[in-house]
Amino acid sequence: MRSHVRTALVTGANRGIGLAIAEGLAAQRIRVLAAARSEESAQEAAAGIGAGAIGVELPLDDPLEVERQARRITDAHGPVDILVNNAGILADGRGLEATTADLIESLMINAASPFALIRMLGEAMKARGWGRIVNLSSGWGSFDEGLRGPLAYSVSKAALNAITFAMSGDLGPQVKINAAGPGWVRTRMGGQAAARSPEEGADTPIWLATLPDDGPTGGFFRDRSPIPW
Ligand SMILES: NC(=O)c1ccc[n+]([C@@H]2O[C@H](COP(=O)([O-])OP(=O)(O)OC[C@H]3O[C@@H](n4cnc5c(N)ncnc54)[C@H](OP(=O)(O)O)[C@@H]3O)[C@@H](O)[C@H]2O)c1
Repeated sequence: MRSHVRTALVTGANRGIGLAIAEGLAAQRIRVLAAARSEESAQEAAAGIGAGAIGVELPLDDPLEVERQARRITDAHGPVDILVNNAGILADGRGLEATTADLIESLMINAASPFALIRMLGEAMKARGWGRIVNLSSGWGSFDEGLRGPLAYSVSKAALNAITFAMSGDLGPQVKINAAGPGWVRTRMGGQAAARSPEEGADTPIWLATLPDDGPTGGFFRDRSPIPW
């Protein structure tokens, strides 16, 4: 009989880096709630991950609906100890080529919906005195690296970075919230020319999701090392 110590919710767990994160956490005897856009893809992902993983439907287009759905998930499956905000979209278009619609959609899916989950699940983590939150960011969201990706993507990841930093003080030292840059990874988003496998891209997020009690909070990490915002 398998006994799980912690429960992790991973968004976009049906493919790419999210699937690799979910598999890596499940291998550490963590109960995984594999979240995906539809019930069908969530169930398929959970069956593939195995190790007691549970599929949960979690479309991220509407942050207010995400709050309601987060409540439904915890009502059905109990508290979440680890939240991995992995799902994201990459809209093309640099500078003036970016559309306002792309910016709004990217901010909703890449920043506001992750915030909704942080709000709903992070507050309960704080009350229980333990939690880990990982936000999948990107070097393209870094001011230090020049915000040099497509505009809507870079700005939405910079917003996610800002949410990470701003929430770290409020969540307190027992709930660790950090941003992770996975590097350039071979997924539908990264393309087949990318240098890293999904498993390599998942390494730093998994490390942050399982930090010890003296681990860092409120930081931005790539290859398990801090990088500037
Ligand atoms: N790949 C890279 O080189 C790279 C580099 C830096 C950062 N990242 C970040 O790493 C994370 C994972 O990227 P990836 O390369 O694994 O991307 P991916 O292969 O394109 O997968 C994206 C995931 O997000 C989900 N998703 C997108 N929009 C959604 C929505 N509205 N509701 C629910 N789920 C939604 C997708 O679900 P569906 O299957 O239903 O579409 C899919 O599971 C992203 O946040 C990305 O920005 C990736």
